[in-house]
Amino acid sequence: MSVTDSKGYRIVSRRCVADGGVTDGSGSDSHIRQAAINELAQTSDNRAQPGVEKMQAEWDRARHDTPPVLEVHELSKAFGAVRILNDVTFQMAEGEVVSLVGASGSGKSTLLRCINFLETPTSGRIEVMGDAISITSNRPGKSEITNAAKIPLFRKRTGMVFQNFNLWPHRTVIGNVTEALAYVLGKAKREAEDMALLALSKVGMAEFRDRYPSQLSGGQQQRVAIARVLAMRPKIMLFDEPTSALDPELVGEVLKVIRTLAEEGATILLVTHEMRFARDVSNRMIFLREGILEQDDAPEELFRNPASEAVKRFLSSVMPAAA
Ligand SMILES: Nc1ncnc2c1ncn2[C@@H]1O[C@H](COP(=O)(O)OP(=O)(O)OP(=O)(O)O)[C@@H](O)[C@H]1O
Ligand SMILES: [Mg+2]
Repeated sequence: MSVTDSKGYRIVSRRCVADGGVTDGSGSDSHIRQAAINELAQTSDNRAQPGVEKMQAEWDRARHDTPPVLEVHELSKAFGAVRILNDVTFQMAEGEVVSLVGASGSGKSTLLRCINFLETPTSGRIEVMGDAISITSNRPGKSEITNAAKIPLFRKRTGMVFQNFNLWPHRTVIGNVTEALAYVLGKAKREAEDMALLALSKVGMAEFRDRYPSQLSGGQQQRVAIARVLAMRPKIMLFDEPTSALDPELVGEVLKVIRTLAEEGATILLVTHEMRFARDVSNRMIFLREGILEQDDAPEELFRNPASEAVKRFLSSVMPAAA
């Protein structure tokens, strides 16, 4: 029924669950999903070994001792009359990995895009490494930004990886990575190439440096897109469903890269539907429902004590049996 992953955690096998391996015999979908949720919660229990707990306590202490890398305060976003984000508040410490989960349309991408200022929030405050930008909305449809001159700095500090890679088709792999280094950071060609090669080697793509995106698989293209962000040395990496455009057999190579970055101490805010991965790699998981932050907890807590029926329903809907 269950297998053990490389860290010794018990995991639910998609195939076992899909085959009905965790049913109580009734074979109904809801039974299968509930059993899978129980299993994930139990898995989290198994992680509560003294060493892990001590590490978690140290982690929590460190989080409170260091200023946050990212602070999002009462952030709201409306498109016309429709409010998409409602007073979202959370913080991230250096080296934290936070997964952002929630149903389709709950505002996950909009939140990432606001943090990166690809969208202008309607109101609220975003602070990155102590620099803040506030947005006030005095009249409907009219927002005022304080410190708007800092937006390019925010973009540099928050690198975004998109679902569809967004590589330039007419540039080689190395050209895709050096472009922003040259134009945004003003790096000379030689230095930009060295930085690009270092980033490409971190995602295992250095040997493909002269290929064009059309000559790569989706997984390879996404790894190049990750290298492109990595090379800019952002303070926070924002991932918006980085594997959802990939064929299933290519998902693993991209998740492996993200896991390595996390293990190396990168600060990562990740939107994903890969719940098992999110649980394993994240320090916290944030659940958004209709633009409202409904739960912000350690993964084991989210699985063990969903804060609302909506969280429970969501966990049921994304369980492997439903995939
Ligand atoms: N530019 C826009 N103009 C108007 N409405 C928008 C715009 N961008 C997003 N929305 C709406 O905002 C809501 C949240 O969208 P968003 O893309 O943030 O959701 P999501 O949680 O990322 O969903 P998914 O899981 O499907 O990617 C949706 O109802 C969407 O239609
Ligand atoms: Mg989205």
